[in-house]
Amino acid sequence: MRTIETSERLFEKARTLLLGGGQGHKRPGKVNGRYPIYAVRGKGASFWDADGNEYIDYLCAFGPMLVGYGNPDVDAAVKAQVDEGVIFNIHHPKELELAEKLARLIPSCDMLSYFTGGSGATTGAVKIARAVTGRDRVLRCGYHGWHDWADPDGAGVPKAVGALTTAVGYNDLGSLKQALEAHREEYAVFMLEAFQGRGPSDGYLAGVQQLCAEHGTLLCFDEVKTGFRFALGGYQEFTGVTPDLSTFGKALGNGYDVAMVVGKREIMEQAGHVWVAATFHGQLIGVAAAIATIRLMEETDGVAAIWRQGRRLMDGLDRVMSDAGVDARSAGQPPMPRLSFGEGLDELANAFYDEAANRRIYFDPGHNWFISPAHTDEIVDYTIEASADAIRAALERGARA
Ligand SMILES: Cc1ncc(COP(=O)(O)O)c(C=O)c1O
Repeated sequence: MRTIETSERLFEKARTLLLGGGQGHKRPGKVNGRYPIYAVRGKGASFWDADGNEYIDYLCAFGPMLVGYGNPDVDAAVKAQVDEGVIFNIHHPKELELAEKLARLIPSCDMLSYFTGGSGATTGAVKIARAVTGRDRVLRCGYHGWHDWADPDGAGVPKAVGALTTAVGYNDLGSLKQALEAHREEYAVFMLEAFQGRGPSDGYLAGVQQLCAEHGTLLCFDEVKTGFRFALGGYQEFTGVTPDLSTFGKALGNGYDVAMVVGKREIMEQAGHVWVAATFHGQLIGVAAAIATIRLMEETDGVAAIWRQGRRLMDGLDRVMSDAGVDARSAGQPPMPRLSFGEGLDELANAFYDEAANRRIYFDPGHNWFISPAHTDEIVDYTIEASADAIRAALERGARA
């Protein structure tokens, strides 16, 4: 039987050493069942926990592992950069190599600015938008990180700062219109996770674009999660809707930190004076990793592999749940799927995720999943088989209870 005792012991120690016992989203309690808390290594689509259990990972470190753990091509590029130097007083030509590549791939990218972490990039976009429009207020829809503007009601955020951010509902043009009309010419930017849940309803993104244009509010797609998965040019390439600004992070460096704000030239050229400089915005590990990751995705058609494997997984899980007579269906889109259990089935869902973990499958129940080209046919087939066993075992548990 799988145990996670070492993880639990480490977590006890962490409670006395790390703020909150560790990063909020990695804390136990967020995931139900006996999920591991400490990982010690990863390779391809798998990671191993501190007790030596292997898991086929469908959370992919919350998104960064685009082409798999320990990818030899990406890691070779990083090691070569380590030998040459990873940060300097002055700029390095690789920053331009990556910028040229991204400007060719991403529709809204004529110019860009580097950041660290997705939260850094989204906060950079807000600062740029405020500077360019001369407006203070921000609209948001989705999760955009931990900084004050993005966590307006959070502990430690001054009320005056939080009051400048307004949240509007997804797929809800009415709430956007109402907010824009309530504070005419006051909103600098609408920060939007353009893909959420099952995706945008027909005409939503075009409607958003039109409303923002009418009100002189910049539209920024927060593509920290979606970037380089739906298409190499992001969710914007996939949908054909080009925002004014966009933010990227997570997947681009396959686990090495690289993030950015990209934008149309007419906006970015007005923002050259905005102070968005930081010591590590010029680090080259993430830049070298990003160049190698994009090259690999292009050479192997990684995006097509993500769509194919995500579709196979979703169809397979639908079959498994329907054969078991369980009201649960796959949701989302193949690059970012999840499983949705019907009402009143929380206990069964918990038992299923626990039984899946006993069979080496790490499906995070509280988050969408991410599909990687490292999820091969063999791995997806195994996952579907193991899920069939897991739901049978979960139903038996319920029958015994
Ligand atoms: C859409 C989106 N934006 C921004 C962020 C913040 O990125 P980070 O956690 O790298 O700071 C996240 C993180 O999950 C995200 O999903």
